[in-house]
Amino acid sequence: MPQRTVNIGLSLGADICWPIAYESLLEGLNLDLKLGRLSRDRVNFACERVTIEPFDLRQPVKYDVVIDRLTHWYTISREWIKKAIVLNDLYVYNNPWSIQANEKHTSYAAMMRLGLDIPETWMLPAKAYEHADDLEPTLRQYARLFSLEEIGEKIGYPFFMKPYHGGGWKGVTRIDDLAGFQRAYDASGTDLMNLQKAVIPYDWFVRCIGLGPQTRKVNYDPSAPLHDRYTMDTDFLPETDAKVLEDTTLTINAFFGWDFNSCEALAQGGIWYPIDFANACPDSQVTSLHYHWPWLIKANLRWSIFCGATGRKMRKTLDWEPFFAIADKDISPREKLAGYAAIAHQRFETEKFRDFCRKHLGHLDELAYDFFGTEKLREAINRKVTALFPAHEIDEFTELFWQRVQTWREQEGARGDEAGF
Ligand SMILES: Nc1ncnc2c1ncn2[C@@H]1O[C@H](COP(=O)(O)OP(=O)(O)O)[C@@H](O)[C@H]1O
Ligand SMILES: [Mg+2]
Repeated sequence: MPQRTVNIGLSLGADICWPIAYESLLEGLNLDLKLGRLSRDRVNFACERVTIEPFDLRQPVKYDVVIDRLTHWYTISREWIKKAIVLNDLYVYNNPWSIQANEKHTSYAAMMRLGLDIPETWMLPAKAYEHADDLEPTLRQYARLFSLEEIGEKIGYPFFMKPYHGGGWKGVTRIDDLAGFQRAYDASGTDLMNLQKAVIPYDWFVRCIGLGPQTRKVNYDPSAPLHDRYTMDTDFLPETDAKVLEDTTLTINAFFGWDFNSCEALAQGGIWYPIDFANACPDSQVTSLHYHWPWLIKANLRWSIFCGATGRKMRKTLDWEPFFAIADKDISPREKLAGYAAIAHQRFETEKFRDFCRKHLGHLDELAYDFFGTEKLREAINRKVTALFPAHEIDEFTELFWQRVQTWREQEGARGDEAGF
């Protein structure tokens, strides 16, 4: 009876709260799966945090799956992960080459190619440059003068100026007129900027989180203070809109090889406009997700356990052709989206995943319901709050997020959540 231990590595930076919940629940699940032919293989799980150290490229990797939250900015870990995929067959979410190469700007272009309703988007040459030996002759010969006024009129005010590889609202400016456009461009310095037509006013602003084939839609209020941006609404959208968002998110994630990503989309006049959907390291903190946070922890556990237990192979190359073949068909946009989503479900092995969860992870719901009510969980929230909030607000906000998690337990935790779908 072959016995196998699946080693899960957590590649972390400043994360505090979710790894505590993840590790506690994985341990509590106490998995001893019977898999393979005649259910003869026994599979259990171990989990540890990946450390940073020198490495020999040929040294083996002890992990089967790495949940990575670090490598979008931290280079040695990214290069270790890339070598581990190429040399040691490691499964990582997310695909690091795709994160490195496909910035927000490319994600807009690719989804335009698939016919999604990306608002009109432009790119501007940078306002300023770091010195480079060839800079002067290059610009002198080839950089054409352009008029902000003309571009502003073509796009139409208001629009947003944002870094082409941006994140975390850094450097994002709403532009309402030419003077504001000039000011923002002058301030952009060496950052390369996209301009994007504003979807304003909008009827809905939704963040759809995707983890493997699991999705969750959150009604988002960008004008609220950080702790209230993810509202606690559930089932707030008509079925058809909900499906468009799910299909859109899974299409993007499968297309780019991202297991874990979130898609921001705005609805105006019945059309959904995705505006930000290249998030390599989606928000996972209890201090922003609060009510939705237990869903994320459970979804993350299910997907990582599934990947490790079944030996799911990581798709190292992206293979966009099947998506483009659908894009070129003479069918309606909604039919195309359904076609892309079908590819996504195939790539995420949705049915196999669902069966796996039913068969092997039936006890997760009850375990999670109990765990999210424990003192240990409250302590994890407190640690995160302590790291973020001023001293005089720590008790108040620990209590607030704790209560929201308890509301989740009452409203959703007690009944389970059908394998995260
Ligand atoms: N095209 C747009 N229409 C309306 N609002 C937008 C648009 N682009 C950006 N925004 C607003 O600016 C915020 C930050 O922009 P976003 O593209 O999400 O950047 P980041 O990657 O930094 O989160 C969004 O959450 C939204 O409130
Ligand atoms: Mg955003």
